[in-house]
Amino acid sequence: MPIDFQTLSKKYDTPLYVYDFDRMQGNYQLFKEAFSGEKSLISYAVKANSNLSVIRHFGELGAGADCVSIGEVRRALSAGIERYKIIFSGVGKQDEEIREALTEEILMLNLESEAEMKRVEMVAQALGRPARISIRINPNVDPKTHPYISTGLHENKFGVEIARAKRMYIYAKNAEFLDPIGIHFHIGSQLTDLAPIAEAAQIVADLTRSLKAIGIEIRFFDVGGGVGIRYADETLISPQAYAEAIVKATKGLDVTLMCELGRALVGNTGYLLTSVLYEKQNGGKRFVIVDAAMNDLLRPTLYNADHRITLLDRKDTEISEADIVGPICESGDWLAKAVPLPKTEHNDLIVVHDAGAYGFTMSSNYNTRGRAAEIAVSAGNERMIRQRESFEDQIRLEEAYL
Ligand code: LLP
Repeated sequence: MPIDFQTLSKKYDTPLYVYDFDRMQGNYQLFKEAFSGEKSLISYAVKANSNLSVIRHFGELGAGADCVSIGEVRRALSAGIERYKIIFSGVGKQDEEIREALTEEILMLNLESEAEMKRVEMVAQALGRPARISIRINPNVDPKTHPYISTGLHENKFGVEIARAKRMYIYAKNAEFLDPIGIHFHIGSQLTDLAPIAEAAQIVADLTRSLKAIGIEIRFFDVGGGVGIRYADETLISPQAYAEAIVKATKGLDVTLMCELGRALVGNTGYLLTSVLYEKQNGGKRFVIVDAAMNDLLRPTLYNADHRITLLDRKDTEISEADIVGPICESGDWLAKAVPLPKTEHNDLIVVHDAGAYGFTMSSNYNTRGRAAEIAVSAGNERMIRQRESFEDQIRLEEAYL
């Protein structure tokens, strides 16, 4: 059922994030089915869209949660994700975060350095309970994506190189308060080529075999996330081909296959609705100024990301190119560039597509703009899942100090 953007924008105002919950379910099922016949856990990478209702939706479908802060772990728990399906990753964890994660008895902590392993061991010892861990391997594979979201090369800060990881596993196996049960890699985001993932899976599977040979019982093989979506004309990795490559690499290893998908589960389910404020010309250049801005959707500014734009209900034939820009005081504040558009009028509605991942979660209060409201749509019914942020919400933590 097509979503009635006009009605939603009138009812809830703009800028407004709208998510198609049925499509989320469809995306999840494609991956779950691709791994059918295998022991598998599809985890949802909470950072892509951390709204509690979104997390709960995936939890109800059976997903686990991949978290990168204790805040995300708390969100996952609050949204009802089972604790044995929650993992806590990230290059820098504070002692307090480690303590809470261990106390909550989540599945495992994903480690990214020897120094971090020592901190986790200390905290686990103080609590008197062993920490289940996995180590993120940096396989030094080029994922061929935007440099800002590439993570699997030695030049990136992420993960541990193989020789060092082996030493860490041996240390952990002999340590009373560390229990190495998993292995992990994640080479980057918005990947459209399967070959680097298959290569990394092979490298990490070989390492897993050599660890098992010396008695280190790895039970979870976590291939990270990163499967890309189509923003413009990208070719896509099919869930089947993805699963096949991973199953092939891990043949004979008795492990649960895990992946931590963010964008592939939510990216194409989200829309940012924005209204035209007015148009202006500078020299020969045409600008359409809208009520959403880089504080609502940062991806164009930060990555030059290309989000498809549609202008609803305008059929004028006179079309010319325009930049769609927000009200923020930065030249980088744009949502789309050189879009062929008919002349727009005040309050015309523009839909920014594929904004379900890293849209709202990367939004800010820059220029004291409140964050947008969020709406879920399922089977033709909508419900609010986050209120629009008010001015009072924004100043709440400062007022007492005036
Ligand atoms: N696992 C780990 C360890 C990660 O670092 C990430 C994303 C994921 C899973 C989920 O990746 P996904 O399946 O969504 O590609 N803000 C950027 C994307 C940053 C991704 C960071 N890590 C963007 O808007 O494109």
